[in-house]
Amino acid sequence: MLPGDKSISHRYALLAALANGVSKIDNFSPAADCQSTLDCLKRLGVRMEISKTAVRIFGAGLNGLKRSRRELDAQNSGTTMRMLAGILAGQAFDSTMTGDASLRRRPMGRVIEPLKLMGAEIAARDGGVAPLRIHGQRLHGIEYELPVPSAQVKSAILLAGLFAEGTTSVAEPVRTRDHTELALEEFAVRVEYSNRTMRVRGGTELRSRNLAVPGDLSSGVFFLAAALILPDSNLVLHDAGVNPTRAAVLDVLAGWGATISLLSVREVAGELVGDIAIRHSPLEGGVIEGDQVAQLIDELPMLAALGPYTERGVEIRDARELRVKESDRIAVVAENLRRMGAQVEELPDGLRVGGKSAGKLHGAEIDAAGDHRIAMAFAIAALGAEGKSTIRGSESAAVSFPGFFEALEKVVER
Ligand code: S3P
Repeated sequence: MLPGDKSISHRYALLAALANGVSKIDNFSPAADCQSTLDCLKRLGVRMEISKTAVRIFGAGLNGLKRSRRELDAQNSGTTMRMLAGILAGQAFDSTMTGDASLRRRPMGRVIEPLKLMGAEIAARDGGVAPLRIHGQRLHGIEYELPVPSAQVKSAILLAGLFAEGTTSVAEPVRTRDHTELALEEFAVRVEYSNRTMRVRGGTELRSRNLAVPGDLSSGVFFLAAALILPDSNLVLHDAGVNPTRAAVLDVLAGWGATISLLSVREVAGELVGDIAIRHSPLEGGVIEGDQVAQLIDELPMLAALGPYTERGVEIRDARELRVKESDRIAVVAENLRRMGAQVEELPDGLRVGGKSAGKLHGAEIDAAGDHRIAMAFAIAALGAEGKSTIRGSESAAVSFPGFFEALEKVVER
């Protein structure tokens, strides 16, 4: 039932495009974001065959990408723009990358700066935002310490490292999702790890692979939350990706008192996959802060919107990054929860959401602010509210989960 993981699908597509030979990727994410990655790759001369759930990519080889005559449009996808910028910086041609209005507001300085240290020439609009004009250059390896924990930035540097002379290393302050490192190994590029530092050598050829993408836990979370909101629920999510750098949300829910268990955990191409069983359970709520935040950053809108369904409420701290996602997720979550009658205090780096004692949520007009995770989080929050809610911009769910509302209709009994 879960669509293929969005983060992993981006990576498999990019690496397959750079590999020698044909790769078949099963359960490729249907997300609009991943389609943006495929579209950009096609413009760079990569041949592919796309069926309903699989993509066959005819690898161009490490130095086989071609200049795109048109701008590369990443649309709403920050992952596409940042990771592809790493690859394009080291090509023998120039590229321009753009995106939709939301993506053109998001910070790109965080990838431009390290790539420039590698010798890249990238011009952005004032304030370090897209469009990006990338003048392909010979790159050299660097040792870089990420100032902000970001898997996208880490990945952009590692991918640029494939085209750089010597070794490129990235140290991260907090462990972020390691799909790029695992995927590089699958495509036959050695990644050396020590503590929180990753290292790749430039010039290594990639070998094509047939791979299957695990289910997207970040999409699955909406169903887990629905089961926790609706009495008597009992749900199993099959074949969900439970990579430890992504699965912190399961620990949080268990810590709040959810009856949740992980079954049949197995390894598939370096990624852990398992079945998640959950039952409706009373939730205590609690505080989410510190190092944990980077490992459940995409799940925070849903966890915040669960606040009114918990005994103690939910507090989120150290999550300033939420302000530069597809929307300002702190402000947008706070505003929509208030519209539903929740007690909310917005903080610079998070928010405090009152629990059950602050009263039951009521239906309201929700504004998804063009943000897929807001649309889905509030569809779930609305399930337990008194009366009807309308979600403006609900179609944005397709950015990560086309068919979300149909899937929800199937699992929710009336
Ligand atoms: C992603 C990394 C995270 C996450 C995004 C996907 C990735 O972003 O929020 O949805 O696939 O690497 P940051 O790298 O900005 O933290």
